[in-house]
Amino acid sequence: MTPQLQQNPIVAGARIRGLGSVQPEQVVTNHDIAASGVETNDEWIRDRVGIVERRFARPDESLVDMASDAGAKALADAGLAPSEIDAVLVATCTMPSQIPNASAQVAHRIGVEASPAFDVNAACAGFCYGLGTAADMIRAGSAGNVLVIGAEKLTDWVDPNDRSTCIIFADGAGAVVVGAATGDEAAGIGPIAAGSAGDLAETIVVPDRSSFIYQEGQAVFRWATTKISPVAVQAIERAGLTPGDIDVLVPHQANLRIVEAMAKRLHAAGARSDMAVADDIIRSGNTSAASIPLAIDHMRNDGRVRSGDIALLVGFGAGLSYAGQVVVLP
Ligand code: UT7
Repeated sequence: MTPQLQQNPIVAGARIRGLGSVQPEQVVTNHDIAASGVETNDEWIRDRVGIVERRFARPDESLVDMASDAGAKALADAGLAPSEIDAVLVATCTMPSQIPNASAQVAHRIGVEASPAFDVNAACAGFCYGLGTAADMIRAGSAGNVLVIGAEKLTDWVDPNDRSTCIIFADGAGAVVVGAATGDEAAGIGPIAAGSAGDLAETIVVPDRSSFIYQEGQAVFRWATTKISPVAVQAIERAGLTPGDIDVLVPHQANLRIVEAMAKRLHAAGARSDMAVADDIIRSGNTSAASIPLAIDHMRNDGRVRSGDIALLVGFGAGLSYAGQVVVLP
C-alpha cells in the first residue's frame, strides 16, 4: 500500500507585511542621454515613453547590493528579524552570472542564514510570479515569512548607444516581506492570473552572452495594449472583486502609454475615477522586475497610497510572460 505522506497544515492566506526599495544615486535625464551623443531628445522620450529621468547604478554597485539593501529595508518595515525569514526569492533577469544565483548571496548579506533561496526569471513579470510563489508557499505551510525582491541592473545589458533601448531601461530594486494571515485577518494576496506567449519569444532577447538587449518595441507594445488588460480583469475576478474595488493600479512600468491604456480599459470595465494609477516610469524608467515594488514604495512615500488599500499588480515582458494579482497594501 502506498504510504500516506504527512503534509504541512494549510494556512488560510498570506499578506504583505513590509515594503522597501532602493535606487542608485545617479540621476540620468533625457537631456543627459542626448548630450552623451545618442541621437534622441527629451520631447521624443516624454511623448513616446513618458520617461523624464531614470537612475543608473555605478559600475561597482551590483544587483546583489541593490537587492540586499531593498530586502533589508522591507524587513525593517515589517518589523522582522532576519532569523524570522524562511525563504528568499529574487526576481531578476539581469544577473551578470548565470551561476551563482542572486538570492543565496542576498540572503547571506541580510543575515538570513541557510534559508531556501532561488531566483525567478520571468523578466518584467518576475515580481508578480515571485509574489504568487511566496503566497502559495505560505498557504501550503512550507514557509512562514518569505522575502520577495525584484532587482535589476539593466545597464549591464543595454547598449548605451542604442537609442531604442538605452532611453528606456534603468536600475533599482524593490522588496516585500510576505507572511501568513493570522487570527481573524483575511488573506491579502489574491490568486495569480498568469500565462505566456512563447510564440513572441524573439521580440525581446539578449541573443548571446556578448550581446545587448534587443526589443521589437512596436510588436511588444501592441501585445501589451491588447492582451494584458484582460489579465488584469482576470486577476480581479479571481480575487472575488470587481474593478470598482481597486484603489490603486500598479502595472509594470514599461511605457506610460501602456499604463494609460490599461487604466482606460479598467475604467471602461467599472474602475472608479479616483483609482490611483502608478506612473513611476516618469522618474524611474523601466526597471523590469523591480518596477512594481519600486512604484508602490514611491507612491507610499508620496502619500498616494495608504495601508489597507487594494492594489492590482500586473507584470508583463520578455518571454513573453505575464502575471498579475490583487493585494492589500501593508
Ligand atoms: O518592459 C518589457 C516590455 N516592454 C514593453 O512593453 C515595450 C513596449 N514598446 C514600447 O514601449 C515602444 O514601442 C518603444 C518605447 C520601445 C518605442 O516607441 P515607438 O513609439 O513604438 O517607436 P518606434 O520604435 O516605432 O520608432 C518610431 C521612430 C523610428 O524612426 P522612423 O523609422 O519612423 O524614422 C525610430 O527610429 O522613432 C525613432 N526612434 C527614436 N527617435 C528619437 C526610436 N527611438 C528613438 C529615440 N529618440 N530614443
